[in-house]
Amino acid sequence: MSDSSKPPVIAIDGPTASGKGTVAALVANALGFHYLDSGALYRLVSLASEREGISTENASFLSKIAASMLVSFQNGQIMLGNEDVSDLIRTEKIGRRASKLAVHPEVRQALVRLQHDFRQNPGLVADGRDMASVLFPDARLKVFLTASVAARAERRYKQLIAKGFSANMSDLLLDLTARDARDSSRGSAPLIVAEGAIVLDTSDLSIDQAVSQVMRWYEASSKSSA
Ligand code: C5P
Repeated sequence: MSDSSKPPVIAIDGPTASGKGTVAALVANALGFHYLDSGALYRLVSLASEREGISTENASFLSKIAASMLVSFQNGQIMLGNEDVSDLIRTEKIGRRASKLAVHPEVRQALVRLQHDFRQNPGLVADGRDMASVLFPDARLKVFLTASVAARAERRYKQLIAKGFSANMSDLLLDLTARDARDSSRGSAPLIVAEGAIVLDTSDLSIDQAVSQVMRWYEASSKSSA
């Protein structure tokens, strides 16, 4: 049940490269809501810990980094301290490390407050794996956005090439499959279709179609909760 005393939340969860980041940011923009890219937080822990040579197994050190890193989101840029790391955190290597360190409950716990702080008026669109199940179980709308592995690998390929990174389709397919398996099978906050979530398969949808669908569902949920 959505708590009407708090700013409304639209939770958009789904597997890697499902397009949820793009859709979530556009929905947030259309509604004038805040936007939480929770995956970026795990990627920031990944980058900061890699720089300090910390293994993805070292849960206690990783959670210290997660709790103490200075993160800010400024005009679409992701800052770690004074450094713009927006592109650095998008590499496959950093994403893979992020998915390994995200299995530790201590690391996840260390990022909870930071994520809850994004819930501010007039509302929040939050994208990740556990937005509906763990962080915002009272979200007004819960969407599980997915697409076939082939469609996701192709999107990720285009994204990486557009950013000037090198990419290989068969490596991407293997990597996405491994990451899906790790994210879905972990004991702590696994990727699941949360209770009350609506599944949106975007394999054959354009971004605009996916955004319009989420907006229609949100309008309907706002009417029914008024
Ligand atoms: O969404 P993105 O690919 O940027 O996320 C990177 C990794 O961070 C994911 O593979 C997942 O393991 C982890 N993650 C998570 N919970 C979230 C968001 C991301 O475990 N809410």
